[in-house]
Amino acid sequence: MPKLIYMKFYQEIQRRRTFGVISHPDAGKTTLTEKLLLYGGAIQEAGAVKSNKIKKGATSDFMEIERQRGISVATSVLAFNYQNKKINILDTPGHKDFAEDTFRTLTAVDSVIVLIDVAKGVEEQTKKLVEVCRMRKIPMIVFINKLDREGKDAFDLLDEVETKLGLRVTPLSFPIGMGYNFKGIYNLWKQNIQIFDSTDKQKIAKTKAYQNIEEQELHETIGHQSITELRESLELVEGVYPPFNQKEYLEGNLQPVFFGSALNNFGVQELLDCFVEIAPHPQPKSTDKRVIHPDEVDFSGFVFKIHANMDPKHRDRLAFIKIVSGTFKRNTPYFHVRLKKKLKFSSPNAFFAEKKEVVDESFPGDIVGLHDTGNFKIGDTLTSGEQIQFKGIPSFSPEHFRFINNADPMKAKQLKKGIDQLMDEGVAQLFTHNLNGRKVIGTVGALQFEVIQYRLEHEYTAKCIFENLNVHKACWITSKDDQNENYLDFLKVKQKFLAKDKQGQLVFLADSAFSLQMTQQKYPEVIFHFTSEMN
Ligand code: G4P
Repeated sequence: MPKLIYMKFYQEIQRRRTFGVISHPDAGKTTLTEKLLLYGGAIQEAGAVKSNKIKKGATSDFMEIERQRGISVATSVLAFNYQNKKINILDTPGHKDFAEDTFRTLTAVDSVIVLIDVAKGVEEQTKKLVEVCRMRKIPMIVFINKLDREGKDAFDLLDEVETKLGLRVTPLSFPIGMGYNFKGIYNLWKQNIQIFDSTDKQKIAKTKAYQNIEEQELHETIGHQSITELRESLELVEGVYPPFNQKEYLEGNLQPVFFGSALNNFGVQELLDCFVEIAPHPQPKSTDKRVIHPDEVDFSGFVFKIHANMDPKHRDRLAFIKIVSGTFKRNTPYFHVRLKKKLKFSSPNAFFAEKKEVVDESFPGDIVGLHDTGNFKIGDTLTSGEQIQFKGIPSFSPEHFRFINNADPMKAKQLKKGIDQLMDEGVAQLFTHNLNGRKVIGTVGALQFEVIQYRLEHEYTAKCIFENLNVHKACWITSKDDQNENYLDFLKVKQKFLAKDKQGQLVFLADSAFSLQMTQQKYPEVIFHFTSEMN
């Protein structure tokens, strides 16, 4: 690559920020995302980004999923420019039944923002997702939301984030009051004070920032009592928490915390300004052979999500590729590593705000949407020619199981094709019983069964019936030594609980937590895995 072009390529990498917001449903993820777009100038009015969460109560969950599926095509990737940085927000469903999608999306982000509701504190879903990020050392910024409501004390919350999420925090902003008494925010990052004003939630209101805590006007505006409390809080912050250090943040060992109210556009800009300054640009990624660096000129990327087209007449799908290295160019042949064949894409989609458009070239950190007629499955790698496979795209041990039976013998082919494609999309996992060859569908959430039945019928004209099956958990089985007696004994005795997954890997279908535990104890030579790589 000529030097000048390489320079431009390098700059494009440096200016990209690809991240996801993780939270428990209702903490305000949609609202925050929308406000980030508002500050990025990508939308002019709030209300443009539709919530893709599954609403409780109103309609059946299942109808909500269909509604959500439509919206989530549009919100899968939201991109905008801010301060000459190209920001890509990847959607992470909060609903627990779709947690697997979120876990996979986390393989494509370079950092995350953890959103917490000031009144509810650390919730279940947040805990699970943060744990994954912590294990992977993904840099995290915490945003405590809804400060306009009565909530927990700021120090108690910081404590909770440390103990329940296992994070090491350092506040970069600190609230002055809360709820009815919410006066504003002290920005420790920029060392100024912003006064709270909730008059216009739809647009960005510019409130005055005070540079000095001693300013007379500030004292008159928020009162001496608030100033005294703020002083005490700041002393405590300084005494108790470690100072911010970017290196530690990037290594996943320190998490800055911001406070604000997304609904009121308050504290969001402070978060965004700090984010673009400190958050990581695209990072290297491991493959089965070597680590790939973003500034390598050869293209490489992987599929982390597949979205079926909503129009049943066109059974094409959109495969979402995260670009890891090099430049992705339209109409250029790339190597599909699993299928060992070259593929060309005439209309790759890039994402911008809520639109997608055909793009000629994309850079590391970007997501491209490729129209697919069945070539891709989650975890697939595309390269300029190198035979590598990206690692760490997980498949989780399902927790709900049912036999799937064909309800229309004339449509056996359609059913098979439908099941195959839905499994490639990562909707669920298919297992085949070793003894009787019966097909078992395993899912992480119970809602997926309804989704599968509906989509098989509407997209593939196939009908299926599910039959209950008493399985508690499926785990993948390996052994250090295939000839070991303990392992061979396991294969024989547990035959009726063994199945194969789509890749032909051996799976143990445990019927209860107790029997799983007993089996693990009885067969120490057998290794039980609770996640598996997608490829
Ligand atoms: P989610 O995507 O994380 O599930 O949450 P979402 O943004 O949809 O927000 C959940 C609810 O919390 C919404 O209210 C939203 O308006 C509210 N919310 C978000 N940020 C703030 C905030 O800073 N302060 C206050 N007081 N509320 C906030 P809703 O009544 O469930 O929905 P809607 O009818 O307002 O859309």
